Amino acid sequence: MDKKVTVVGAGNVGATAAQRLAEKDLCDVVLIDIVEGVPQGKALDLTEAAPIEKHDAKLIGSNDYDASAGSDIVIITAGIPRKPGMSRDDLIQTNAGIVKNVTGEIVKRSPDSILIIVSNPLDAMCHVAYDASGFPKNRVIGMAGVLDSARFRAFISMELNVSVENIHAFVLGGHGDTMVPLPRYSTVAGVPITELMSKERIDALVDRTANGGAEIVKLLKTGSAYYAPASAAVEMAESIMKDKKKVLPCAAYLEGEYGFNDLFIGVPVKLGKTGVEDIIQINLTDSEKEALAKSAAAVEELKGVLKKLG
Ligand code: NAI
Ligand code: 2OP
Repeated sequence: MDKKVTVVGAGNVGATAAQRLAEKDLCDVVLIDIVEGVPQGKALDLTEAAPIEKHDAKLIGSNDYDASAGSDIVIITAGIPRKPGMSRDDLIQTNAGIVKNVTGEIVKRSPDSILIIVSNPLDAMCHVAYDASGFPKNRVIGMAGVLDSARFRAFISMELNVSVENIHAFVLGGHGDTMVPLPRYSTVAGVPITELMSKERIDALVDRTANGGAEIVKLLKTGSAYYAPASAAVEMAESIMKDKKKVLPCAAYLEGEYGFNDLFIGVPVKLGKTGVEDIIQINLTDSEKEALAKSAAAVEELKGVLKKLG
């Protein structure tokens, strides 16, 4: 196929992302993992599904980064997920080392690629990949807002019994408990949900969204969510590969936008063939600004932890 996407980490999110990329007929896919046999086995299994699923994407699994050479996009999911009782931030030490190493291997073989970071804690891992890659800011993007907004959309759909296709929602900020769902900008067929639901119900859905990841961890017990996270990463990759210029909430490197500097945080961006093509600045009320500042402070704190780790 015309495009090549490497997914690093052939675990739950990575393998599901590979499946979605192939079954949407978007690109050839290379799965890389540190565990011998796992990326090879999953790529072969997906290849054997291709005649039934009717796609011609080539899937390769490897422990050797040479297989990733010349990728257009690299989705980094390598690392450990959280277990019940753990926050995303508890993963920082282990995953910072992994993401730094993975990024180094990738940039040697795919110097023109666009990186989509998934590993947690997300915003901090974007900083690790940005620093390790030396890539321009438009080519390092974090996946979180698309997932968090999809969760909000699903909950709105369940509440109002309307099609998910009618619902748009925006969740900004860092991918953590301080994320900022924006009900004023969340709509059903263009109507803000603030006109369709009581404040109490909106607050309950906002709270469920902010704790959406933990809700799944509590149910699964052995890991975290992966179907919706994989869908979210693939929506971003598709917008880039097809140059669709979708406006999606993603973690992007800010240099003054929204009043923040040298910081990855979730904001609405336009995703096209060069990656982040624009950061869209929307008007926020004082309380929304305050919530975003609190979320930014949480990411700043993690940047401090990264500095200490060296
Ligand atoms: P998983 O444990 O199923 O898969 C992770 C894979 O990474 C494993 O196969 C493991 O062998 C591999 N890996 C570990 N070290 C590696 C290395 N040095 N090089 C290559 N591969 C390596 O975990 P899952 O559920 O796929 O989650 C992956 C990461 O994504 C976690 O950090 C999780 O917290 C994060 N995540 C982030 C989301 C977001 O919204 N940003 C949503 C869901 C997960
Ligand atoms: C989630 O939100 C664990 O970050 C992951 O499901």
